[in-house]
Amino acid sequence: DIPRYVKIVEVGPRDGLQNEKTIVPTSVKVDLIRKLVSCGLPVIEATSFVSPKWVPQLADAKDVMDAIKNLEGVRLPVLTPNLKGFEAAVAAGAKEVAVFASASESFSKSNINCSIEESLARYRAVTSAAKKLSIPVRGYVSCVVGCPVEGSVSPSKVAYVAKKLHEMGCFEISLGDTIGVATPGTVLPMLEAVIAVVPVEKLAVHFHDTYGQSLPNILLSLQMGISTVDSSVSGLGGCPYANGASGNVATEDVVYMLNGLGVKTNIDMSKLLSAGEYISKYLGRPSGSKTAVALSHI
Ligand code: HMG
Ligand code: MG
Repeated sequence: DIPRYVKIVEVGPRDGLQNEKTIVPTSVKVDLIRKLVSCGLPVIEATSFVSPKWVPQLADAKDVMDAIKNLEGVRLPVLTPNLKGFEAAVAAGAKEVAVFASASESFSKSNINCSIEESLARYRAVTSAAKKLSIPVRGYVSCVVGCPVEGSVSPSKVAYVAKKLHEMGCFEISLGDTIGVATPGTVLPMLEAVIAVVPVEKLAVHFHDTYGQSLPNILLSLQMGISTVDSSVSGLGGCPYANGASGNVATEDVVYMLNGLGVKTNIDMSKLLSAGEYISKYLGRPSGSKTAVALSHI
């Protein structure tokens, strides 16, 4: 039994563009977000209020928000690593934010420069400030199967961090295979451990396609009852602090699979293809979506 409707969280403008070697101009980011809105995507992660020294690619977060904050019919969350980022996001008009913890100590250190426990304390400050303003907070757990430094990560560590994020009030917990090493064989025990401590309706999955395993991993997650899937148009993406991580699973490929399964997404495939074509043309490389490549030859 798989869900009849899947909510897709488009992360291309954030998880994708944070990883580009050259900095994409604000106007291109804004055009991309507008095109993605027109596809019917319900949630588009727009940018991050992180340190511009750590992620110069998204240093224009405020300008991006200025241009898109009044778009209707879509949720436009942004990443916030601490209270400073949260306050800047709110000042820029963000109505939803996301915090990002890791299941691996080494990755926590290299991505946000603090331990897992320190990050959870920061995120408690963010969730309590957000609660006062009625701003929903999503929580990410990174490295849910593997870490670039530590290798395999135990399901109990993932469950621990997911439970803490849920307890502090995150409305949804996205489980990230940051470096894309998961297979259905490792996703299954990880999801079983997390589902034992966080209600399955509150979980999302976030796969990177380094080894081409995202679609089977997503199918397994749907069979386990998960109905929120993160993906990135054209398979843009990676993570600046996770060497070798290739793009997120392509939104076009996820929608193609869900259409084939008869699962509703309310996403217009042809508009999605044009959004993907727009950004791939700008970046000067072929789409990372097999579906986009196949459909462009029909
Ligand atoms: P730090 O250097 O330890 O921070 O970085 P600090 O508090 O010591 O401050 C140092 C400087 O940064 C100060 O400025 C602060 O004001 C400034 P200075 O006095 O030197 O001029 N600063 C900020 N500036 C703007 N916005 C802020 C902010 N905070 C401090 N929010 C910090 C700690 C967390 C800030 C840094 O490590 C950081 O920004 N990290 C973000 C890394 C990132 O964005 N990674 C990618 C996203 S996670 C991901 O992709 C995984 C995911 O997709 C899921 C998956 O795939 O698994 C979500
Ligand atoms: Mg990611």
